This record gives sequence, structure tokens and C-alpha cells, in this order.
Amino acid sequence: MRRTQELNLFCHSAEPGRAPTEPAAHLPPGLAHFPAYLDAAAQRALADDIAAVIAQAPWFTPRMPRSGRPFSVKMTNCGPLGWVSDQDGGYRYQPTHPVTGQAWPAIPARVLDVWREIAQYPHPPEACLINFYDVSARMGLHQDRDEEEFAAPVVSISLGDACVFRYGGLKRADPASRLRLHSGDVLALGGSARLLFHGVDKILGGASALLPGGGRINLTLRRVTRP
Ligand code: SIN
Ligand code: MN
Repeated sequence: MRRTQELNLFCHSAEPGRAPTEPAAHLPPGLAHFPAYLDAAAQRALADDIAAVIAQAPWFTPRMPRSGRPFSVKMTNCGPLGWVSDQDGGYRYQPTHPVTGQAWPAIPARVLDVWREIAQYPHPPEACLINFYDVSARMGLHQDRDEEEFAAPVVSISLGDACVFRYGGLKRADPASRLRLHSGDVLALGGSARLLFHGVDKILGGASALLPGGGRINLTLRRVTRP
């Protein structure tokens, strides 16, 4: 995608009645950060929606392919497809929870609203990965590339404690920059930023009272198949 198109992609009013939100100038084209996209009431409503999802689809601990080493984050999903990882099967999408065998719950309407407002992509997301980070959890540098469809952005919503988010380039060794993500922030990786390496270096404990017991929840919305 051309640079001008990418700049247009995310330069629009984030919400009706709200000041236009544009990606900060220092971010690479296609990487868009919408600080405080969700106000306190919207964050509360979303946290309640996610608690209802977790009641149906409990947290599981994913494991690294081959080594079987556990991730430090707990995960679950909602949507027709969920992202899972284990020692034998590796990274993949599947329609059922790896422990309960049940279909994933539907993506809450409020989460789909964020996708519709931000993604500028005409089809719904199929996967909403829900990560939980306690204060010691991290996410190593990686690309989101288990999807067939890279024309859709990855849209991520942060709830609870803040974090230090790291993003680099298209190669693992490219220089990295850091961005603080707070509760209610939305981040999109689209266009030429769709495959940027990224990860979570650190959770900033005590930054938010949204989640009982603290910690951070990240919702990652992705289109998996080509329509
Ligand atoms: C991820 O890339 O899987 C999660 C990113 C985040 O937690 O912000
Ligand atoms: Mn990712």
C-alpha cells in the first residue's frame, strides 16, 4: 500500500464528536495509536463483556511449539476462530477451545464496534485473542503471520494496567522503539506495518484499577481467512 493511502487510512475522527485522532508523527506508516480511545465507562463495559467470555471459555496456558515451554501470558479467545499454540501442533487457529473442546463464544458487539470504527476493512474479524498479563508476564518479539489475509489490519485494545509495547521493523534485528499503552488505548497495525515485529517488554503494575487483582488484558482482533 502507498504511503499516502496509509496515512489516510487512520487519519479520521476516532469517534463522532471527538477530536480527530491521528497517529503520532513518529510512528511508521500504517501503525496507528489511538490513546484513550475508550473512556472509563466504555472500558468498564468492555471488561464486563470479557469477564462473560472468560466464564464460558476459561483461560488456558499456551505452550511454545517444539520446546513446550509455557507462555507467561494466559489466553483465551472469542469469535469463529481462536489462536492457540501447543508443543505438538504449534501456532494455529481453530474453532474450539483446546481444553473444553467447546466453540469459542461470540465476539462482543462492543468489540466489533471498535473494529468497524478503526479497521477500514469491509469484513468482520474472525478471531479475538484475549491475553492476560500479570505484572511479571511478557510477550517476546514476534510477527502476527498465522493469518491468510494480510490486507486487514490487526486491531488491539488495551485494558487494565499499562505496558511498554515494543515495535521494530519487518526483520527481527531491525531497531526497535517503545510505546506506552494504557487502558482504553487502541493500536492498529495495517498496510506496511501489518507485519512489524512487536512485543510487550513490561507491565506497569498499579496503573489501573479496572481489573480486580490488577494485570493487563489485551484484545487482538484479526481477520484470518481471505473473504
Ligand atoms: C500480541 O501481540 O499478541 C499482544 C500485544 C499486546 O499485548 O499489546
Ligand atoms: Mn502479536
